[in-house]
Amino acid sequence: MKEFNVGLLGFGTIGAGVIRVFQNNAEVMEQRLGARLTLKRVADLDITTDRGVKVDAGVLTTDAMQVLTDPEIDVVIELIGGYEPARSFVLKAIEQGKHVVTANKALLAKHGEEILSAAAAKGVDVMFEASVGGGIPVLSAIKENLCANNFRCIFGILNGTCNYILTRMTNEGADFASVLKDAQAKGYAEADPTFDVEGVDTAHKLAILVSLCFGTRIDLENISIEGISKITPLDIQFAKEFGYKIKLLAIGKRENGQVEARVHPTMIPVNYPLADVDGVFNAVRLVGDFVGPVMLYGQGAGMDATASAVMGDVMAISRNQLAGGGRRTPAMGYLPEAMVKLPVKPMRDIVSQY
Ligand code: HSE
Repeated sequence: MKEFNVGLLGFGTIGAGVIRVFQNNAEVMEQRLGARLTLKRVADLDITTDRGVKVDAGVLTTDAMQVLTDPEIDVVIELIGGYEPARSFVLKAIEQGKHVVTANKALLAKHGEEILSAAAAKGVDVMFEASVGGGIPVLSAIKENLCANNFRCIFGILNGTCNYILTRMTNEGADFASVLKDAQAKGYAEADPTFDVEGVDTAHKLAILVSLCFGTRIDLENISIEGISKITPLDIQFAKEFGYKIKLLAIGKRENGQVEARVHPTMIPVNYPLADVDGVFNAVRLVGDFVGPVMLYGQGAGMDATASAVMGDVMAISRNQLAGGGRRTPAMGYLPEAMVKLPVKPMRDIVSQY
């Protein structure tokens, strides 16, 4: 039976989830793939902290190069997060002819073009389903099932930490700081939770969605970003009295050849479906010219849901290799050479709409 060897960079919360999938679901993955997936190496600077999963000592290493330069490793999973050394490691993996799966939205939002161009030149796959919406297969839906559509707009709740905080503030009158601590303990928040609560993580995800939906790149500086750190219990109470819930929304639109992208707290009428998206759950609403509105919903952060998306990508890459290879990534939009730069709608126009 054909075997694919996988190397993992980053043994944190999601890394532990990925190892759990290898340990619990090896049989079902093998049946569905018709090939065996083997986790050959796991690299992290900290290989002593107990992550709740057992890994053979021979698999663990503190040296990422042992993963990146191992000729037997076919797929590298990058779960380090942040810009560096993640960018250098991903580029090194590509240079070594390895396929890459990453959950790193910050990296893709900032260096996506460089990484995807390098992968295209080398003829390897880079897949990143876990970077947006945790376990929700939103990128696959855009790249595959819905790819015959022109998308008019995309919006949604894209940060599990913020949604968890806002939900508990709304339902229990809980205090912002203590709920944030709880979200960190549950493994939802980023290493630096400022990225979550100030809307930056949501903006990273929106940049990825905008590039896939509209075939254009948008720099983070062109996204208007406001987080939830200034939302008070009084705001939530007033919203409730008027029949609204406050949610952190990401909004992307393409209109008249211009792109508009913004992230901010939004009053959602309680009878609108997005108002019922609570806790760590995320939801994405897309409108395509043929399919009309589509809404996807599921767990947007956390160990298991994110590991599910990562392993789905590993299996997709392996399936593609079994079918004879060829790049799977240029499904749409993010084929680097097909990207266009569209003008960004000036913020004053956006503000004047309201
Ligand atoms: N910190 C992120 C969130 C993790 O809370 O949504 C998933 O991308």
